[in-house]
Amino acid sequence: FNVPKAVNEPVKAYAVGSKEREAVANAYKEMWNSKIEVPLYIGDQEIKTGNTRNMSAPHDHQHIVGTYHLAEKSHITQAIDNALETRKKWAAISWENRAAIFLKAAELIAGPYRAKINAATMIAQSKTIHQAEIDAACELIDFLRFNVEYMTQIYKEQPNSDSSTWNRLEHRPLEGFIYAITPFNFTAIAANLPASAAMMGNVVVWKPSDSQVFSAKVIIDIFKEAGLPNGVINVVFGDAIMITDTILASPDFAGIHFTGSTHVFKDIWAKIGNNIDTYKTYPRIVGETGGKDFIIAHPSANAKQVTTGITRGAFEFQGQKCSAASRVYIPQSLWPAVKNQLETDLKSMKMGSPEDMSNFITAVIHEGSFDKLTSYIDQAKKDADAEVIFGGNYDKSKGYFIEPTVILTTNPKYTTMETELFGPVVTIYVYEDAKWSETLKLVDETSEYALTGAVFSTDRFAIEEATVALQNCAGNFYINDKPTGAVVGCQPFGGARASGTNDKAGSVLNLLRWVSPRTIKETF
Ligand code: ALA
Repeated sequence: FNVPKAVNEPVKAYAVGSKEREAVANAYKEMWNSKIEVPLYIGDQEIKTGNTRNMSAPHDHQHIVGTYHLAEKSHITQAIDNALETRKKWAAISWENRAAIFLKAAELIAGPYRAKINAATMIAQSKTIHQAEIDAACELIDFLRFNVEYMTQIYKEQPNSDSSTWNRLEHRPLEGFIYAITPFNFTAIAANLPASAAMMGNVVVWKPSDSQVFSAKVIIDIFKEAGLPNGVINVVFGDAIMITDTILASPDFAGIHFTGSTHVFKDIWAKIGNNIDTYKTYPRIVGETGGKDFIIAHPSANAKQVTTGITRGAFEFQGQKCSAASRVYIPQSLWPAVKNQLETDLKSMKMGSPEDMSNFITAVIHEGSFDKLTSYIDQAKKDADAEVIFGGNYDKSKGYFIEPTVILTTNPKYTTMETELFGPVVTIYVYEDAKWSETLKLVDETSEYALTGAVFSTDRFAIEEATVALQNCAGNFYINDKPTGAVVGCQPFGGARASGTNDKAGSVLNLLRWVSPRTIKETF
């Protein structure tokens, strides 16, 4: 169980004039005109089906960076067959040989592929270099390194034995294959969902988001170069419902590792329920879904700290994090200071293409998201119980740009206080200082989701009260910090209620979902 000690990858600063900044700028230019064609990866074949879709950049939607091939039903069946064939060897090799591949992948990302995976994430998902670095480089490296360490902890854990009885626990992979469905918003999550299941000896069919294919291709190249055998992770693109229905119809479907929207996850869960008699084993269902994440400030809070929590928590990566702060509760006494500071902070946030690395805000992911977000902003401009106090302008002529927008409401149950928007829009409700405890109750009662949340206060009793009152509202609860940016190895991530199964990404708890233990008792 001697593996390299997992350490968090240091975040690079990309200072003006630095080598890393030049490297990523060059990689960006090269990839911008690469016109790559992404095939399906099934077993040892790279399949070009001829039925393709374009990949473009959200900040310049007319620019085509490449194409990807779409699967038909027969390709999905082929992917399942190849995965099951590969399983015969993959499930049998030693854990050291599996671990070595993923440790090597981490080092490839830390070194030669860092600029490329960051540039791909900047282009395809419109992340700034700083948001790409903490995701596609650091978080992904951390997932790979820490999961190898967690894997050894699982294997090491053995039951008691005595001189006449030897008890053993074997952590075998699940019997069948795993289906991974991954989102656009984190390159690290996209890679980790198939990789963590594969690391534990499972074979996978992976369907990345249509908006993340460009960086998914870089992940595949890295895993291949690190020595991942063909067929362990099979990658398919195309019609999500067709792919899911074909996969769920297989008797060998053994589990799903999902990050995406709540309604899609519920649909999949229901379909699995309908098919339950057809499976060889109960499938594992692991999902991280939506969020409507809160910040609540106590009258004792530091206004500047609260404002930084709002601007960074709500607007980094255009608010497209399941963890993003999107509803905020501020006491009346603190509001003037927070409002002033917000105005100052928002003025300093530049918006534009991620190619200009001084920009803080870039485009939202696609037209559907742009249209949805702007309709909520327009509605808030009209509603009597809401007011757009900062931002509120938008333009999709070149890219899907929406200004960081702050809505102030007098109604704590206003639509944008309750609906997940997934964009650079935050809604603030100002409460009477004397109603602190009542407001905590309100936050709990209106938390359909329970992913992340933050309390700001300098009063220990208030912190204690909030921690208890909000215990079911956030799987990741932050004290005096923004509710985003969980670090692998430090803050295992995930939530309950409509936010998911809370199987904490980047932890032993998650990896345990991808094994089917066998107890062996031998009597001498
Ligand atoms: N794990 C990501 C965060 O904490 C979503 O922001």
